[in-house]
Amino acid sequence: MSEPTPPQFADLGRIVVVIPTYNEKENLERIVARVRTALPEVHVLVADDNSPDGTGDIADRLAAEDDRIQVMHRAGKQGLGAAYLAGFDWALEHGYDVVIEMDADGSHQPEQLHRLLEKLRTADLVLGSRYVKGGSVVNWPKSREVLSRGGNVYTRIMLGVPLKDATGGYRAFRAATLRTLDLSGVESKGYCFQVDLARRAVQAGLRVAEVPIEFVERELGDSKMDQRIVSEALWRVTVWGVQDKTQKAKRLLAGKKSPDHGGW
Ligand code: GDD
Ligand code: MN
Repeated sequence: MSEPTPPQFADLGRIVVVIPTYNEKENLERIVARVRTALPEVHVLVADDNSPDGTGDIADRLAAEDDRIQVMHRAGKQGLGAAYLAGFDWALEHGYDVVIEMDADGSHQPEQLHRLLEKLRTADLVLGSRYVKGGSVVNWPKSREVLSRGGNVYTRIMLGVPLKDATGGYRAFRAATLRTLDLSGVESKGYCFQVDLARRAVQAGLRVAEVPIEFVERELGDSKMDQRIVSEALWRVTVWGVQDKTQKAKRLLAGKKSPDHGGW
C-alpha cells in the first residue's frame, strides 16, 4: 500500500474549498475530484442553490462517498454572493482556518491552488489574478474579456484599490480575515460580491496579495452571468466610489478647519 500524501499546508491549519453551484451537473464531479487529487488534505463544501438539473443530488452522492466533502442545500437561486456568505458562515462555524473560493466549471484550476496557499503564508487574502504578470485567460470571447478588463479599470479608478484583478473569483481567505470583514453588512448579490470583499479587505488594512492564475473558460454548461449581474456591479461600484470620495473630502475639510489640526 502506498503511503498517504503528507499535507503540504499543515502550517495553515484546516482548509476548505467552497464551490457554489447552480446547474453544474456536467462539471461538479470532475472539479471535486481534481481538488481532492491536487491537495488531498483539503476539504470541499458544495453550496448548491437547489439546481433544477440535479447538481445537488450529485453533490450528495460525492459527500456520501468521501467524508471530506460536504454539501449545503439552499432553497433557490439567490446569487453567487449569497451562496458564498452562507458557505463562509458554515466554514467558520466548523472551525476551518482557511477558506477558498472556486468556481465549479473548471475555470479555476485546482492544480494551481498551491500558488494561492503558498502566498497566504504571508498574506491575509490572496487573489488568483488573470491580469498580473504570468496570469492569463484561455478561450474567453473578446467581449467578455473587454467587460472584465474594463470592470477592473473602472474599479481601480472609482475605489482606488491597488489590485489588477478585483473581480476574479479564485481566492484564499484566512478565517481571521473573514471575521475581520463585516460580512453581515455585505449586500452584493451577484459577482460584484468579489469587488465588495476585496475593497473591504484593502480598507481594513489587511495584506491583500495577487498571484497569477490561468483562467480557462468552461467547456460544459453555461455561464450564469447576465445583464442584471453586470448592472448591479456597475451601480454598486459607482455608489461605493462616490461614498468613498465624499467621505475623503469631508475628512479633508474637517481636518483643515479643525483647530486641533492647526485651523485656518
Ligand atoms: N449557489 C449558486 N448560486 N452558485 C452560483 C450562482 C448562484 O446564484 N450563480 C453562479 N453560481 C456558480 C456557478 O455554478 C459556478 O460554479 C460559479 O458560481 C461561477 O459562475 P459562472 O457563471 O461560471 O461565472 P463566470 O465564469 O461567468 O464568472 C467568473 O468570473 C467572474 C470574473 O470575471 C466567476 O468566477 C465570477 O465570480 C467572477 O466575478
Ligand atoms: Mn465560469
